[in-house]
Amino acid sequence: MAFTGRVIVITGASEGIGAELARQLSGEKPHLVLAARSADRLEAVAADCRARGARRLVQPTDVTDDAQCRVLIERAVDAFGHLDVLVNKPAYRCTPGSRTRRISRPTKGSCA
Ligand SMILES: NC(=O)c1ccc[n+]([C@@H]2O[C@H](COP(=O)([O-])OP(=O)(O)OC[C@H]3O[C@@H](n4cnc5c(N)ncnc54)[C@H](OP(=O)(O)O)[C@@H]3O)[C@@H](O)[C@H]2O)c1
Repeated sequence: MAFTGRVIVITGASEGIGAELARQLSGEKPHLVLAARSADRLEAVAADCRARGARRLVQPTDVTDDAQCRVLIERAVDAFGHLDVLVNKPAYRCTPGSRTRRISRPTKGSCA
């Protein structure tokens, strides 16, 4: 299977598409690193993933914080030795003249 033993970091893994991706990949027994702000919801997803065969690490992370992102990657490499896949899931919206800005529930529109 394509993801067996792969180290996969998923941000936005506590609900929605990120959580479902983590659950569906788990059957292939990857090493999952699950990140989002809510530790409680991440732990619930991690329990599902473990039951389905994944090794997993939960790292509460706000992806708008550079320092927390660095810690996330450092902890992933410490735990599993390297990275194979990084899924940056939380949605972003681009506004004219500004840096990319994250919103929790994107409104209609796209990044230019
Ligand atoms: N879910 C669906 O069934 C579905 C169907 C069709 C289309 N879509 C579209 O697909 C896109 C993704 O949807 P989604 O349901 O996965 O919701 P989303 O709002 O893009 O992502 C929610 C996830 O991102 C995390 N998150 C939010 N802010 C974060 C931050 N600053 N740092 C780290 N993690 C953060 C949330 O956890 P925390 O709050 O714990 O941080 C949660 O795990 C959206 O544009 C949606 O409209 C979704």
